[in-house]
Amino acid sequence: MQYGFFDDDRREYVITRPDTPLPWINYLGTDGYFGIISNTAGGYSFYRDARLRRLTRYRYNGVPTDAGGRYLYLRDRRDGHFWSPTWQPTRTDLDEYQCRHGLGYTTIRSRHRDIEATVRFFVPIDQNLEVWDLSLLNAGEETARLSVFSAVEFALWDAWDDATNFQRNLSTGEVEVVDGIVYHKTEYRERRNHFAFFACSEPLVGFDSQRDEFLGRYHGWDRPAAVERGESGNSIAHGWAPIGSHHVAVSLEPGERRRILFALGYHENPSDRKFDPPDSQAIDRTTVTPVIASFLDPGHVDEAFQALEDRWSRYLGVLQVDTPDVHTNRMVNIWNAYQCMVTFNLSRSASYFESGVGRGMGFRDTNQDLLGFVHMVPDRARERILDVAATQLETGGAYHQYQPLTKRGNDAVGGNFNDDPLWIVLAVAAYVAETGDFAILDEPVVFDNRPGTEAPLFEHLDRSIQYTLDRLGPHGLPLIGRADWNDCLNLNTFSDEPGESFQTTTNRDGKVAESVFIAGLFVLAAAEMAQLAHRIAANEIARRCEQAAEGMAAAVARHGWDGAWFLRAYDHFGNAVGSHDDSEGQIFIEPQGMNVMAGIGIGDGRARQALSSVHERLATDHGIAILEPPFTRYRLELGEITTYPPGYKENGGIFCHTNPWVMIAETMIGSGDRAHDYYLRINPSARAEQSAIHRCEPYVYAQMIAGPAAPSHGEAKNSWLSGTAAWNYVAITQWILGIRPTLDGLRLQPVIPADWDGFRAIRRYRGATYHIEVRRRGRGNNVSLLVDGVPIEGTLVPAAAGGEVQVEVVLE
Ligand code: GLC
Ligand code: GLC
Repeated sequence: MQYGFFDDDRREYVITRPDTPLPWINYLGTDGYFGIISNTAGGYSFYRDARLRRLTRYRYNGVPTDAGGRYLYLRDRRDGHFWSPTWQPTRTDLDEYQCRHGLGYTTIRSRHRDIEATVRFFVPIDQNLEVWDLSLLNAGEETARLSVFSAVEFALWDAWDDATNFQRNLSTGEVEVVDGIVYHKTEYRERRNHFAFFACSEPLVGFDSQRDEFLGRYHGWDRPAAVERGESGNSIAHGWAPIGSHHVAVSLEPGERRRILFALGYHENPSDRKFDPPDSQAIDRTTVTPVIASFLDPGHVDEAFQALEDRWSRYLGVLQVDTPDVHTNRMVNIWNAYQCMVTFNLSRSASYFESGVGRGMGFRDTNQDLLGFVHMVPDRARERILDVAATQLETGGAYHQYQPLTKRGNDAVGGNFNDDPLWIVLAVAAYVAETGDFAILDEPVVFDNRPGTEAPLFEHLDRSIQYTLDRLGPHGLPLIGRADWNDCLNLNTFSDEPGESFQTTTNRDGKVAESVFIAGLFVLAAAEMAQLAHRIAANEIARRCEQAAEGMAAAVARHGWDGAWFLRAYDHFGNAVGSHDDSEGQIFIEPQGMNVMAGIGIGDGRARQALSSVHERLATDHGIAILEPPFTRYRLELGEITTYPPGYKENGGIFCHTNPWVMIAETMIGSGDRAHDYYLRINPSARAEQSAIHRCEPYVYAQMIAGPAAPSHGEAKNSWLSGTAAWNYVAITQWILGIRPTLDGLRLQPVIPADWDGFRAIRRYRGATYHIEVRRRGRGNNVSLLVDGVPIEGTLVPAAAGGEVQVEVVLE
């Protein structure tokens, strides 16, 4: 069962029926102004911070689902029949329906009563607004006389407050309506210097700005009273629920088209220029009206849309591949890269599953997101790295999260996740490998956002490494702290209070429980650090890191091996976690992937053994489960991981973020077939045929697919905002296709399936364009390189000064 198809030429996913199993969403905006938009125009918009600057209202958890959106109504003036051309909210049967999600835009086209309506939503580059570009075509034989109504419901800025603090909120709403533009200005009278606006290109026959006037008593968005009667109330909101709605009258002869533009946006005024006249309470519109006018101009809107398309061509043009597998091509060339941009921008804040009020930017999440993003816009990656580093603590530790609006650390959501600091080493190493910008290591960066504490970024990294070494447990393995990558493995929490937060509670001193996963991550990070250090002649540090990595690998060999796989941890009592000795949770995926990625056990066969245990015990048709067997009851000493029903989330779900670690590990032992097989099991495009089971969008990864112990095995949840995006991108492009940036240049070391006869790729890298052709001559992974026709030893393509470089790779 499928609900649509890929249109790769246009870089779009085309949804062919509105009632998808879940709302299938897309994102608008890449810089300051963002929106999420579903295939039926549901969703909301915000400026920078989904919690603190929410522009429009959305009802998570509402029924029917996906309530709140960018609504349009068409009303036939002959008989009063009305419908929504995007299906929601009236859910009228449409004669045709199609939604095209593209890169930064969504177009919904439908036909009903011979009216063909197409509406394209997008956020122009560098603008704090979104355009709704509606065109109507009368495909019938008679003149059509229509009323067009628009509607958005404003949120009163702080989305959390907006959803809870009614005693205040129902009295604060304020608007201004000038020249048919609805300005939402709640709290502008006091400390805010920003407001929202909603404008229409056409002359209006009416408008509304008070929700209850527009909807009528006890009506929903599916049946607004104003639309039913064909007449707006011209209401001015004071308190209650401000909305924006325009009413335009349209007559269309047979074959006639009409274009109507709407602009919904956010604007700030300088604090001393808020009002005009200055002693009034009226918004000073001097700087906003020209912006609004320009986006109600069709020619300008067309140019802005073209600029958006061009920008995406540039971003995606950094790497394009042509392999024998369509799912690989489609995800690498379009959707996976796109998802990496979205996770970089929004971290874990706003999706259909993340309510936008919960989380800031995670320290570990952000650093991992960078891995899949850095090649697209290295300058933004650089800025992000410096922002994140500035939240680091002098101990080398990290706030678990920071707020995107203030860029400051926030420990209200917990701290002492002992893996956190190590991820920034990987992010910086990836950035330097991409750009060759070693100068970033010298950038002075503060600790904890405190001026006067500046130290070079390189020292921040060194402190990250030292942070682990300062916190070793009884077996010489890293103490886990509150948790490591697996937020839910809480070995020091011991919580027996209902509802108590696993993220902030600690009831043990934390000096015993150790993580074998952090050990692997440490070995990986210390090796990266050593390489960086060598390159800047910090030889003492390089040596120290190498020794520390060796020492840690030895500790894993002595105390981290269960016989056929790596242990996961030691708990507070010093008992092994992830061992065949336990009745449940015998094997965990994380240390198998991470330790092998770090090179542990490759020389002595344990890597191979661990990966074959993964294959036997954890691999399913829907991906590799996180652990096995899942925990069937709550275990005080393990924490949140045992709170989930078996097969879900960290308790035996297919937690997709971890799967690419195993793919990478497989390439490291030379198994291209297995690596790519695992890659396809969770590849959304490859799963599109099973949409009825998978249920989430077939064009992006989800955080989790229900594991074999769940009744809904194969069903995905929490699509879009997941480290799965970055890691899959890294696994397929750098390890399976083997096009890998390193500090010294581009390495070419494909480990592809044996039955591929090769592939081609174009990679822009440090100012040069590499045209790569890989040809298989034998079934192995031995590489011979020809650069511009000249044979080269090894797998490293020497850095080119620029221009075009032809690279031939022969695999035997
Ligand atoms: C979520 C978190 C991430 C964590 C993972 C596993 O995806 O965002 O930080 O590593 O869960 O618990
Ligand atoms: C919950 C989730 C986990 C996530 C964490 C972040 O524990 O299960 O996946 O990482 O919340 O707060």
